[in-house]
This record gives sequence, structure tokens and C-alpha cells, in this order.
Amino acid sequence: MAEQLSNEFLSEVANEFGTPVYVYHAEKIKEQYHKLLDAFKHSNTRFFYACKALTNINVLKYIKEIGCNIDCSSINEVMLALHAGFAKENILYTSNNISFSEIETAQQLGVNINIDSISNLEKFGKKFGHTYPVGIRLRPNIMAGGNLKISTGHRDSKFGIPLEQIDEVLRVVKKTNLRITDLHIHTGSEIKDVEVFAKGIEVLFDIAQYFPELEIIDLGGGFKVAYKPGDEVTDIELLGKKVKEEFDFFEKKFGRRLQVWFEPGKFLVSEAGCLITKVNVLKAAPTTTFAGVDTGLNHFIRPMFYGSYHVIDNISNPDGEKKKYNVVGNICETDTFAEHRTLSEIREGDLLVFRNAGAYGFEMASNYNSRFKPAEVLVKDGKAHLIRRRDVLDDLLKNQIEIV
Ligand code: LLP
Repeated sequence: MAEQLSNEFLSEVANEFGTPVYVYHAEKIKEQYHKLLDAFKHSNTRFFYACKALTNINVLKYIKEIGCNIDCSSINEVMLALHAGFAKENILYTSNNISFSEIETAQQLGVNINIDSISNLEKFGKKFGHTYPVGIRLRPNIMAGGNLKISTGHRDSKFGIPLEQIDEVLRVVKKTNLRITDLHIHTGSEIKDVEVFAKGIEVLFDIAQYFPELEIIDLGGGFKVAYKPGDEVTDIELLGKKVKEEFDFFEKKFGRRLQVWFEPGKFLVSEAGCLITKVNVLKAAPTTTFAGVDTGLNHFIRPMFYGSYHVIDNISNPDGEKKKYNVVGNICETDTFAEHRTLSEIREGDLLVFRNAGAYGFEMASNYNSRFKPAEVLVKDGKAHLIRRRDVLDDLLKNQIEIV
């Protein structure tokens, strides 16, 4: 098991590269990938890392190195995947509401494609007919996921082609002689309940018979990891068993062995990453003590945007007396990371670590308030490597055209 990076090690990283800094632990990513391989070893399964979670090119290269495939949500992510060295057949492009020209580019590049609208499906059919295998992203009308913002498969969701329109899909497939090899759903992020995946399989198996060239059922991402001790997580072992049962049953009934694909993002990189920040100021207020840190929602938006909970450790004073704090950022609007959180006594200058920040942390960062984006560090084989330098003033100006 990949050991958690020690407080001393993280302090050294912060001292060497400054704060705020994102730190990723390569071996933890590998460990997570191997958990998946193990849990699904009895099925014909492929995993595609949903790289929207974290796209630093070194992370992508590492993901490739450990043998995992990659799922992209924009054509630029496809370009990054190619840059990282992924073979085209190991790249999947699952997007939503994109222009047809992006799909054409993906086709030219030769990657796997899932299409999520009838209009693009029809355009694809007219242009490529039976010549290029393609997948369909469906909206299965399943409510799932940690909160509504990250729930994508329900009746009011913008994602995928509504299941009710399957007749229209079949009409387009027939008319344009499409070669449908993949049916895809992604119902949400942070799905605790294995039954949600089982329901997804059931929905897709119900319509699989209409697609004689079907090879793949793609169930998307959404495996939940623990954000705090005792948190419920997706039981991937149980899911692995369920998948085997269901796919074996399908094979017996229809004489076809389907592959199952997953697109994990958080599961692979969330726990592998943390954000280290320094406490700038302490402010005693009548109701709480504010610990004001040198980062904000510009660098780490999950707590404010989703109300998500992240463990915070004071690594400069881990054995200090326990006290309550509101940990807040330095942005000129409310950016609370934690409220009335019990932490080891904080002094100005202490280093705090936000855990579980590898997924959708740096990736959703911005330069709001004209602050520099943080540096990123990858720890591999016990060594810390700078994989993105902190912004400098030129980065804030580089795309601006001064006309005044
Ligand atoms: N596949 C598709 C088609 C997706 O849209 C997503 C995530 C994934 C896979 C990966 O899901 P994961 O395994 O990471 O749960 N920013 C939010 C999460 C948004 C997820 C968007 N789609 C957060 O920080 O919670």
C-alpha cells in the first residue's frame, strides 16, 4: 500500500516550492488503479481515466505508464492525451453539447467517440455511415451522485440522449447505416450505491438487442472515495461481482460477450493529491477564530461550490491543543474552506494540508483576483518533482492585447 506522505515530507515540499502548492503522489494513483483491476479481474473490463479531474501532462504520462486508458471531455483533452503518448485506440472522447466539427476532428484522429445528441449522431451517420464505429451516450433517467450539481443521468439533466427517444435513435441508425459498438451512460459523481450501476446495466441491457454490432457497455465514472474517516464509499468489490454476474447472464442469454468500460476520475486521483497552504493571519471574532490562508476559492473551489468536506491537517503543529476554527481564503469574497472545524492549534505561518484535493482541485483553479495559480508537484519514487511552476505576472498578461 502506498504510504501517506509524512508531515515532514510535505513541509519540505512546501519550503522548497512555496505555497500554495498541489502535491500528487504517483504511487497512490497506481494503487487505486490496481484496486480497480483487482475488483474487476473476472470481467472483460477496460478503465479510461476521466482526465478532466487532473490533466497535468506528467500525470497523464504516468497514467499511461501504469497501463490505464484515458477518457476526454474536450478535443483539447484528446490532444493532451495524444501528446502524453496514448495510442488512439486507448483514448475515448465522451463530450456533451459540442459542435460537430470537434467530433469530425476526433474521427480524423482515430479515437473512440461517444455521441450525446441525436443531431450530431445524424450528422455522423450521414458523413461516415458504417465506416467508423461509434458510441451513443444515453440519459438513463437515474438519479445518482453526491449532489445535484454532479448528478448527470436524471430526467432533467442536459447530458446524453433521453432514453425516451430511443425510437428516434434507431431511426437515425438505420437510415444512415451507423455502426454502433458502444452504449454509454454516466449518471453522476460520488455514487455510493452499487445498485445505481446495476440499474444502469439493466437499462442498457434492455435496449442492447436493438444494436446487433454492440461490443461495449460503458458505465462512466462516479466511484466514490472517502472524504472523511468513516465515509461510505463505492464497494468496488461488490460491483465487480455484480458486473461479472450480469455480463455472464447476458452472454448466456444472447450469445454475445460484451466488454464493460468505466471512466473513473476521482477514484484514481482524488486521494493522491493534497493542497498545502500557509496561514497568513489569525482573526479572533466573537463566534469563531478565522484562520486566513494564502489560497482561496480561486485555487480550490470544491468546498464553496459543492459544499464538499475536505479533511484539513495542521502539519506544523499536529499535536497542538484542539481548537475550533473557520478556515477561510484570501479572496475578496466569502471563501470558506471549513466552518467551526476542530484542528490542532493554528499559529500564523503554520502549514495546513487540504486532503483529497487531487481531483478537480488544480483543474478547476482560476486566476480570480489576479492571483497566481499554484505550483504542482509530483512525488514519484520518493522524490518531489516540480511539474508546474507557479504563475508569474507575465502569465496574467500573456494573452491580453494592450490597445489603450
Ligand atoms: N465520465 C464522464 C462522462 C463524466 O462526465 C465524468 C465526470 C466522469 C466520467 C468522472 O467522474 P468521477 O469518477 O470523477 O466522479 N467537479 C466535480 C465533479 C464533476 C464531474 C464531471 N464529470 C467535483 O469536484 O465533485
